[in-house]
Formats: sequence, C-alpha cells, structure tokens
Amino acid sequence: MSEAPRHILVIGIGAGDPDHLTLAAVKAMRRADVFFVLGKGAEKDALTRLRRDILDEHLTGPYRVVEADDPWRDRTQRDGGRYASAVHDWRHRRADICERLIADELAPGETGAFLVWGDPSLYDSTLAILDDIRERDTVAFDHEVIPGVSSVSALAARHRTTLNRVGRPVHITPGRRLAQGYPEDCDLVVMLDGHETFTHLVGGGWWIHWGAYIGTPDEILVSGPLDEVADRIGRLRAEARERHGWIMDTYLLRQGWDGPQGASRPAGSADGSADGPLG
Ligand SMILES: C[S@@+](CC[C@H](N)C(=O)[O-])C[C@H]1O[C@@H](n2cnc3c(N)ncnc32)[C@H](O)[C@@H]1O
Repeated sequence: MSEAPRHILVIGIGAGDPDHLTLAAVKAMRRADVFFVLGKGAEKDALTRLRRDILDEHLTGPYRVVEADDPWRDRTQRDGGRYASAVHDWRHRRADICERLIADELAPGETGAFLVWGDPSLYDSTLAILDDIRERDTVAFDHEVIPGVSSVSALAARHRTTLNRVGRPVHITPGRRLAQGYPEDCDLVVMLDGHETFTHLVGGGWWIHWGAYIGTPDEILVSGPLDEVADRIGRLRAEARERHGWIMDTYLLRQGWDGPQGASRPAGSADGSADGPLG
C-alpha cells in the first residue's frame, strides 16, 4: 500500500509588516505540523525572528520549526550565462536540502510549511525548488500556494502611489539587469539591487520612490527627483547597511513625471528627506 502524500504549504507572509499577513496565510499556518526556515547570516537572524514573532502571534499551541543553513552561493558572477548557471547551481543545492527536510522531518500525511518573504511569485525560489524535487521522484508530496503582500505592493502603498500610470506598462527588474538597459516608455520597479544602479539613470529626468526595510520599524523612505535625491539615498543605504549588516530596498522609477498627482511636491521630497511616507 502506498503511503499518504506529504502536503506542503508555500505561504506568503508579507515583506516585513506582520499586519500584512493575510487571513488565508494565518489559516494555512494553523494547518501546518512543521515550519521550514532556510537562511544565513545577519539577514537570516532578523528574518527568522520576524517569522517566529508571526508564529507566536497567530498560533495558539506549540509548533515545530526546523531551520537549515542556506547553501553557499557564488555572488561574484553578474553576467548573463554565468549568473544563470550560478543561480541554477545554488537552487539545486537548496533543493537537496529541502528534499531532505521534506523526507526526514515530515511524516507521510503531515503538512509542512515554507513561510516565504513577501509573495512567492516574485523573485523567490521556493516554487522552482519544489518543482525540482518533484521531478526527482524521491519523496511524494503535493503543494499549495498562499499569496502574500509583496515588497512592491508595500512600497507603492507607503508612497501612496500606483505602480502604473494610466494605461501604461510597468517593468519589474533586478538591479543587475537595469544596468544593462530597460524598455522605453515603461515605469520601472527595481529589486535585488546591491549596487545602487539608480545612479546610472541620473540626468534622465526620473522620479524615484525608494524604500528600505519597508514595513519594519527600521523602514526608510525617500521620494523625489532622482537627480536631487540620489546622493542622499546612497548615504542612507550605506549607513543602514553598516548599522544592520544587511539591507533590502526596492524602488519605483518614473520618467518625465513631476511627482504625486494633485499634490504639490511633498515637503522635504526635493531634498530627499526621509521623514514620513512621502519622505
Ligand atoms: C529575494 S527578493 C524577495 C521578494 C519577495 N518575494 C517579495 O514579494 O517582495 C528580495 C528583494 O525584495 C525586496 N524586498 C523584500 N522585502 C523588502 C522590504 N521589507 N523593503 C524593501 N525591499 C524589500 C528587495 O528588493 C530585496 O532585494
């Protein structure tokens, strides 16, 4: 007789604000027997603490967490094919770890959960890793995805803006690809940018809505004409990175735009003041 399949929940938990957890996410968390957490270093410590705070707040009984170290990843490769192969290799080793977690830490018929930062559909490897494990055909499981509030939605909300202008496209890109170019006539959302790639666009008539640690007590927001605020964002980034040991920031770039509609330019925005949501 074949054994009951294991069940996996991939739960988006929002990108920092515990109040961004959806009711569906809470209900899903309550169905889980065990929570899997992967990470490494200072960023992992901070994000693991946040996950545990979320679990403490929403689960009434005891719960089981299994932590594993993220495998090493070669971050020196930034160009095309070599970048893709470094990521592929890293994902494969991550899949080895997750396969072991599912096989060893979850009994047949039990439910395990991955608490995914933001939304699982956006720059997150969990779903690709589960596909990879399924192809190996070593451990039987099914899985379900619960969407979360992404850092991009949180950024737009904190700046009280939309991602798109009327009838226009939005292009979402990692910073690494922005450096290589971008489509004409699009607003740009930039993530995973460790290199302040927005500085390449100074002089092009862009407005930037920038946010770091959005939704957390350490949140920093800056909005204004890129030419006027780029240096300030650079300084804030460097200081914050030094203070925390890691940084997560996201920004929206909009060309040929004078700032939020219907409002005069918010106080402090032109000089990049970081106070308040429109900072
Ligand atoms: C690996 S991706 C994960 C994205 C996530 N799945 C989401 O839906 O937001 C990590 C990137 O998301 C962005 N990010 C995640 N959380 C953030 C936050 N609280 N504040 C600003 N940016 C954040 C940053 O661009 C960071 O480099």
